[in-house]
Amino acid sequence: MKSPIAMITNPNDHQLNKPELTPLLAPAAVAAVRRFHQSLPQYQPTPLVSLPGLAQKLGVGAIFVKDESHRFGLGAFKGLGASYAMATIIAATVNAAAADLNYAFLTSPAVRQQIQSLVFITATDGNHGKGVAWAAALFGCRAIVLMPRGTKPCRAEAIRAINGTRVEITDLNYDDAVRRAAQLAAEHGYLLIQDTGFNGYEDIPNAITRGYTTMVGEALEQLGDHGIAKPSHVFLQAGVGSMAGGVLGYLAHYYDHNPPLTTIVEPDTVACIYQSVQQGQGQPVAVGGNPETIMAGLNCGEPNPLTWPILRDFASFYASCPDWVTIRGMQTLAHPVAADPAVVSGESGAVGLGLLLSLCTDPNLATLKQQLQLDRDATILLFSTEGNTDPDGYAAIVGQP
Ligand SMILES: Cc1ncc(COP(=O)(O)O)c(C=O)c1O
Repeated sequence: MKSPIAMITNPNDHQLNKPELTPLLAPAAVAAVRRFHQSLPQYQPTPLVSLPGLAQKLGVGAIFVKDESHRFGLGAFKGLGASYAMATIIAATVNAAAADLNYAFLTSPAVRQQIQSLVFITATDGNHGKGVAWAAALFGCRAIVLMPRGTKPCRAEAIRAINGTRVEITDLNYDDAVRRAAQLAAEHGYLLIQDTGFNGYEDIPNAITRGYTTMVGEALEQLGDHGIAKPSHVFLQAGVGSMAGGVLGYLAHYYDHNPPLTTIVEPDTVACIYQSVQQGQGQPVAVGGNPETIMAGLNCGEPNPLTWPILRDFASFYASCPDWVTIRGMQTLAHPVAADPAVVSGESGAVGLGLLLSLCTDPNLATLKQQLQLDRDATILLFSTEGNTDPDGYAAIVGQP
């Protein structure tokens, strides 16, 4: 028998409590991020795909999928965070003014000369490392990428292919690989560029989180083109929760403490945010060991302590999903219903849609469907955060692309 989806609600009412909004994601801060991304020659908003056929079939008003498989030619959204954070590090290194946080200045011969010996290091499941390698190449620096045990060799190869980046598949789980990268940085003077925070290491992960907001900013503008001022529902998948925190924090600011009804979605083997909420102490808890899931990008056992409060305070539901949920999401996006366009969505990209499918069609989840108000008035926004980043795995699940 298939293992079931588990969901819990947030016991705190953010509309009533009005928790504090983080200044890191305030409109002026995220506008600077957007300006930086727009200065990159490779920048183009990714498509927002409407799926009216599927919405009709599921009995909801509208379904929109932000398709990050097109981001910077990297196949995933993560280059947004890596490039912005790296830009802030370089700007600090050369004492640049805030107005100079743009591609033209940061790649000017005078700056290049000052930064060419910088070496960035990170630990990654794949997508963040690819973003770091790409951004380092963009700015003329070097990168070292550590990967956790069980990483598919094709993910390591994809990173090596960017400028001959040094890549090592370690024998550690993701969280221990992060600690190893931090240790190597301290020993060798490398610059740690990590997408999660820990004691005393905050500015860079916060910049990465801010970097992700370009994705949601674009999505809201694209919804506006459809005449939609606010989606009613958002589903955000989480590894450490930096992406979900960045997006939800942005939405909480944008809609003045009243973001769309948001569900945080994780693999059931490594649902650290779900478990943190369930424990009810208001603090993040870790899932240790070597958890397995095909959702490689979400295989992180320790929440980012810097974005955890946003997820705790502003999300409405938390879901813990077995792998079959994302498999169903990938297959549905690849083989759409009616005249809907196909979306290439990878293992860590499709779990939100997979969950929505189950909520709308599984009689055992009917009460939850009602609680979430997934009805004809629902306008649902999903983020397909990666495309086909593991070609063999993707082909085995959905057939040849
Ligand atoms: C494709 C994809 N989606 C989502 C995430 C989750 O991001 P975070 O770790 O910030 O929760 C990742 C992280 O690597 C990812 O690669």
